[in-house]
Amino acid sequence: MPFPTHRMRRLRRTESLRSLVRETSLEPRNFILPLFVCPGEGVRREIGAMPGNFQMSVDQIVAECSKAVGLGIGGVLLFGIPETKDEAASGAYDDNGIVQRAVRAIKSSVPKLLVLTDVCNCEYTSHGHCGKIAGGDVDNDATLEWLAATALSHAKAGADIVAPSDMMDGRVAAIRKALDGAGYLNTPILAYAAKFASVFYGPFREAAESAPQFGDRRSYQMDPPNAREALREMELDLEEGADMLMVKPAMPYLDIVRLARDRFDVPLAAYQVSGEFSMIMAAARNGWLDEKRAMMESLTCIKRAGADIILTYFAKQAARLLA
Ligand code: PBG
Repeated sequence: MPFPTHRMRRLRRTESLRSLVRETSLEPRNFILPLFVCPGEGVRREIGAMPGNFQMSVDQIVAECSKAVGLGIGGVLLFGIPETKDEAASGAYDDNGIVQRAVRAIKSSVPKLLVLTDVCNCEYTSHGHCGKIAGGDVDNDATLEWLAATALSHAKAGADIVAPSDMMDGRVAAIRKALDGAGYLNTPILAYAAKFASVFYGPFREAAESAPQFGDRRSYQMDPPNAREALREMELDLEEGADMLMVKPAMPYLDIVRLARDRFDVPLAAYQVSGEFSMIMAAARNGWLDEKRAMMESLTCIKRAGADIILTYFAKQAARLLA
């Protein structure tokens, strides 16, 4: 007879007991803070739908990175807002582009902090799509050249890890080849392997000024109902040479995180995207949710589902609470 011999509540009675048997805990070293770098000096423009997040010029980004390292955060992920956009996304692979300049500045003043770069074209194209447009759609193979050139210019600037987020087929192999060919044998690739065409990227597109000017991203990002396909995407990225995998978004896709954790033995990241952050912030500002608890519960559960690394706009706040 399980009851009354067994009483699950025995180990929940006090915080000390709960703490003793707690299965999952968060550590700031596993957090990656996404940052938006823009032209200018002394610029710090708050993003409307993402309270506490800013478009920042290089000098401000460097200051932010010093804070991040002080809090024990593992790394930052850089997105660029270029001076100008064009059809060929030339700002993405310009050795003197906004992200490249930011990487050099961060690595020279906060060398210990890992700098990851998002490798994608949507912030740099005038049409806001993630690649070269041909016949009303993104041309996969032509886009690979831009991506390889971008990843290489990030590595040259000193990026510790490159993270392609475009969802073109073959990009991991193309990037690996370009990096290896130029001697960057040791630059790891974190592949946004299972990236879904999600409505939860909404606030980010305001932050990065990267909303597509026509159509949507459904011909390259994944269809949200598909889990088996996500595993296949991840398997292909590993075969092409990805060192780490990412699932994105996180919370509505925790089943994918768990499937990936059980199937693959590489480090696994999950990206708590802008919409996930904004929902919690909006509810908290309305007095409908406790902000700190919602933040910590969401992050803990992403980790419990199997993520080793969490990309989150809450990185600083959570690290402060954990200190
Ligand atoms: C670039 C990119 C996006 C995000 C990360 N990299 C936007 C998109 O695919 O439209 C979303 C991040 C977020 O919502 O926080 N392609």
